[in-house]
This record gives sequence, C-alpha cells and structure tokens, in this order.
Amino acid sequence: MCGIVGYVGYREAQPILLESLQRLEYRGYDSCGIATLNDSLTMSKDVGRVVDFAKNSPKIHGKAGIGHTRWATHGTVTSANAHPHLDCTGNIAVVHNGVIENFQKLRDDLTKEGHRFNSDTDTEVIAHLIEKYYQGDLKEAVSKALTEVTGTYAVVVLAKGHKDLVVARQESPLVIGVGDKENFVASDVAASLDYTDRTIYLEDGDIGIVSPDSITITNNGQTVKREEQIVPWSVEDAQKAGYEHFMLKEIHEQPKAIENTLRAQIPFIKPLTILGAESEKRLEDIMLIACGTSYHAGLIGEYVIGKLCRVPTRVKIASEFDPNCIALEKTWVLGISQSGETTDTLRALKHANSRGCPTIGITNVQGSSITRITEQVIFTQSGPEIGVAATKTFIAQLTALYSLALKMAQLDVKAQESYQTEFKTLPSKVQQILDNEEQIAEYGRQLAKCDNAFFVGRGISYPVAMEGALKLKEISYIHAEAYAAGEIKHGPFALLRSNTPIIAIAPRDNTYDAMLTSIKEIKARGPQVIALAQEDDEEIQQFVDIVIRIPKVDPLFSPFLNTVAMQLLAYYAAKERGCAIDLPVNLAKSVTVP
Ligand code: AGP
Repeated sequence: MCGIVGYVGYREAQPILLESLQRLEYRGYDSCGIATLNDSLTMSKDVGRVVDFAKNSPKIHGKAGIGHTRWATHGTVTSANAHPHLDCTGNIAVVHNGVIENFQKLRDDLTKEGHRFNSDTDTEVIAHLIEKYYQGDLKEAVSKALTEVTGTYAVVVLAKGHKDLVVARQESPLVIGVGDKENFVASDVAASLDYTDRTIYLEDGDIGIVSPDSITITNNGQTVKREEQIVPWSVEDAQKAGYEHFMLKEIHEQPKAIENTLRAQIPFIKPLTILGAESEKRLEDIMLIACGTSYHAGLIGEYVIGKLCRVPTRVKIASEFDPNCIALEKTWVLGISQSGETTDTLRALKHANSRGCPTIGITNVQGSSITRITEQVIFTQSGPEIGVAATKTFIAQLTALYSLALKMAQLDVKAQESYQTEFKTLPSKVQQILDNEEQIAEYGRQLAKCDNAFFVGRGISYPVAMEGALKLKEISYIHAEAYAAGEIKHGPFALLRSNTPIIAIAPRDNTYDAMLTSIKEIKARGPQVIALAQEDDEEIQQFVDIVIRIPKVDPLFSPFLNTVAMQLLAYYAAKERGCAIDLPVNLAKSVTVP
C-alpha cells in the first residue's frame, strides 16, 4: 500500500534510500520523501514518482535515514501529506504504512495539548505522540506512543541524537535486511536485494532498535529472537531484464512459474481416502478466500476441486467473508494471496482460525503475514512480481490449486497419470502463445480504440473472463465487464454497440455449443467478437471476427492458456494507449488497508 525504507550504516543514506524506494514504488506511487540524520534531521519530499524525485531532490547527508513512497489513504496527494512526518520540534521523523483508526481522536487530544499539525494524514499523530512521551529514550517513547494507537502499522522512526532506527510492526509488513556493519529496513525484501539477501521478518507487536551492527527486538516488553532467513530471490529477479515493462517480463516468465510451482511438493496434503480415515470430522467442505486476481484463481480452484475431488467447495471475496458461514472445525479455509499481506484476506483467515477451522495459505512471498496465521502454507514459485497487475502469480496460484486438487482426488492411476501428463505440457503450450505474441499484440492495439468491452465465458471459462476483464481495466483503463455468456442477454445486451468488442472464451469443453449460441446472439446485435478458441477449431471462425488460436489442451487446463492470451491483449491495448502499465493510476500492489 505504501513502501517504507530505512538505512543505518557507514554509507551515505540518500542514494540507498532512493534506490530502495524505486524498488518499492509498486506499493504506492503518488508521492514520496526521505529524511536523513547528520547533526540534525533533513527532510525532502514531493508529489510524483520516485524516479523524478531522485533526479530533482536536493542532496541531503547522513548515514542514517528513512524513506517512503505513498499511496494516499488519509489526505489528498500533496507534498505536505507525503511522508516522512515530523513532530513539532522537527527532531523526530516517522514513516508509516497502515491505517491509524483512532487518529482523529488522538489528533484532537494532541491539538488541545498544544501540538500543531502540518498534514491531513493519520501518520502525523505518531510523530506527535512520540514527542509527547520522549524523555531521552526513543524506543520507550515509540512503545508508549503505539499503545495509544489502534489500527495497523509498520513504522520506522529516526530522531536527532539517536544513531539507530526504531521500528515497529502491527499487521503491516516490515522486514530488516541484515548487512555487514549496516542494516536496512523495508516493507518487503525487494527493496534491499541489491545490498543483502539476509532478512529478518518482524512479527506483530515487535518493536526493534536497528543500529549499524546490532538488531534488538522486543515483543510485549520481552526480548525476542527472530531467525534470519535467506531470500530465495536474486537482484536480477527484481529487474526488467531488457523488457519495456515488468508486466511483460512477468508474462514471459509464466512457463517457468508453472514448472517451478509444479516441482514444489505439498507434503501435508493427503488423498481424500486417507484424510477421511484420519480426520473424518475435520473435512466437510472447503472454503477459498481471496481478493482480486487471487479471487479469480479461487473461482477456478472451486471448479477444479469440485470436479476432481467431489468435495463441496465455495469461494468468498475476503472482504465479504462472514465467519457465520463456516461449519466449526469442519471447513478447511484456504486463503490465496500472492503478496500474503492483503488485509481483507488476513482478517478473514484470522476469523477462520478463531472458529477452529484448519487454515492453509497459498502465497508467493516467504515470511509474509499469511505464512504466520495459517497452519500450512503452499508457496507458489513465481519469483518476485513487481508489476501491479498480477500475471505470473495468478498462473502459479492455478498451478498450486490444480496440484492440490490432484493430490487430494481419489483418481485411478490412469486418470491421475493422464492429468499429470497434461499438466506437464502447460509450460511449452504457454510458450507457444508467447511465440504468437505479435499477432495478439495487433488485436490488443485494435482493442485500444474502444471505451467498453465485454469478456464472456461459460463454466470454468467464466472466472477466466473475469480475470481478462480485470487485467484490461486495471492497466488500460478501458471499461471492461465479464459475464457468464448465458447471462449477457439478461440486461447487458442493451449496451452492445458496433464499437463494443466482445472477447469470447470458447474452449472445446461441454459448454462449447452453448457458447456458440451465445456468440451468434451477440453477433446479431452488431459487436465485433474476438474468440479465444482451440487451434484446430474450424467451426468458430464463421461466427466471429477474429480468432486467437490457443494450443489444444484438456479443457480443464484451458484457463492457463486463455489467461496468458488475455494478459497479452490487455498489455498491448494499454501500451497503445500510453498507460503507465506497471503502476496504474490509483492502484497499489499490496492492499494492506481494509
Ligand atoms: C491484480 O492484478 C490486482 N492487482 C489485485 O486485484 C490483486 O490481485 C489483489 O489485490 C489481491 O492481492 P493478493 O493476491 O496479494 O492478496
């Protein structure tokens, strides 16, 4: 939601902070700022992108500093609302990610006590609370200040007279990059990959002092030891590697994401036969919880688990989760979140935990919050995803969900082998679509001219259509809606015009004939129809304007291939429209507010 960074060591902090903020810009990008400590604090902040700020901001000195890239929640996008925020004395600087729910009351009380505020943000109250409690011990003051705060936070504090940073975490991610005579703090590991792959993941309630050669962490007043971990990603993983955008690079990394995720084992999942015997009472149904693209993966997972395992499976948008709709202890709750930090998903999982349900997390990020609140974790192996639009993490989530379904299913050996064989062909089939990129790019450029588009699918392809529409709208700003193909005649037909393209997903499954009927009904009303159809489908071309050919695959696996084609369509439509593809307006990669 916002990105925060900190540095203490023997080097000038400013270049490190600016470099690190650029790596975190996908978390927020409406304004940014840094503060460094020499003899006193110096601060520099502005609206706009970090890259411009890095070019234009004045040199400030100091070997300790903090920085922030913002995604506005409280207060509009102004330089005054950009972080860091200072107390009245100008000696205490704070960067914060999260939401202080009781900030208005705190602000009113502090104002009565004589504190003067310079911004509309919730964060600024933290700086003033620290000032209020400061009596020479910065950590003590931070600790007291945070007891007054309700809400979520990752906080880094820099203050005159202190060579250390004080850090604290509650429900918002914060990691410490461990260096040699220098240490780094950031919202996620991508920020300090240039400098170190050694990381400590802070936990809720942790307050730490980070100095150049030591890290001390306490929780509830007790000193705690947090194990150092090695980040499994390299600097190159977090760079564009010659691609114009991270999104394009990440689309091209999908064959590898499938291969790597397929290779990862899910040892704790057992076939249903064994599960039934071992824990009969503990599996009545499965509930998948997620947001956005991860929710779409969940919808496809629902279909696949339902088909292969015959276990009642439901999917809930995490923010709509109602703890009353789960049967105590008998519902397995699976939270899907590439970042592992989405507040809505984490809150739903915590509810599930409190009701005694077994919980499983599917995430791409080691050490993320979801890994700490679920009993078991399945890691997707996509490498870091920087583009705000989820691409390779979605494909890896599908890989994990299909693997899980196949592992649980009571299939005979022949059926199991046949699915596994088909699964293994996916990387090369995805590659075939990528090899056809130029043709899809041309259709994407044509799509760029429209203001509205519909995506339609049936059965397993309906959530695929939802994902296609989400990709198009979030990066090209074209209004796109997804409909179950049979439903579009019940109202949306009123919106069909010759300049409203319809993207129809038509795999050769049991919905194919019904899909052709829907396509004919749509076509009769004038719109251009672009069909995603199997490579050997001769029939469909007479009913549509454009056919994007998709390699032949068992229809159960068609979501993998159709999704990749739609990602390319969206990408090239957005590129043609000159959009900021990796950093779409108003969005952030990791949504850590409710
Ligand atoms: C996807 O392109 C979006 N950026 C967004 O919908 C995202 O999938 C959603 O916020 C959930 O994120 P998560 O997977 O990290 O929980």
